[in-house]
Amino acid sequence: MSLINICKYTEIPNGSKKKFEINDKEIIIFNINNHLFPIDNNCSHDEASLENGTLDEYEIECPMHGAKFDVRTGEVTCLPAVSEIKTYKIEIIDDFIMLEI
Ligand code: FES
Repeated sequence: MSLINICKYTEIPNGSKKKFEINDKEIIIFNINNHLFPIDNNCSHDEASLENGTLDEYEIECPMHGAKFDVRTGEVTCLPAVSEIKTYKIEIIDDFIMLEI
């Protein structure tokens, strides 16, 4: 495991999200109530982007077929997906978001 500096903490204010491409993977970080939740931008049902999905509290709904996931854990909360999505750990160091990969 290693930490990658991806941006300043202030670049993802509360209530926003930002997408990053890291090692050929797209990762979205949501800031919900000043907590950051990084997930793969890849629905486990049929690989749709979750970037434009609807966020309801901690649940993201895939815009393609409506599967839902908890961004805190990656767990499926609504079919048709059956597999969780990958989540990541982060650390804040000197105002920078460091993603553990
Ligand atoms: S691709 Fe996301 S629910 Fe089908």
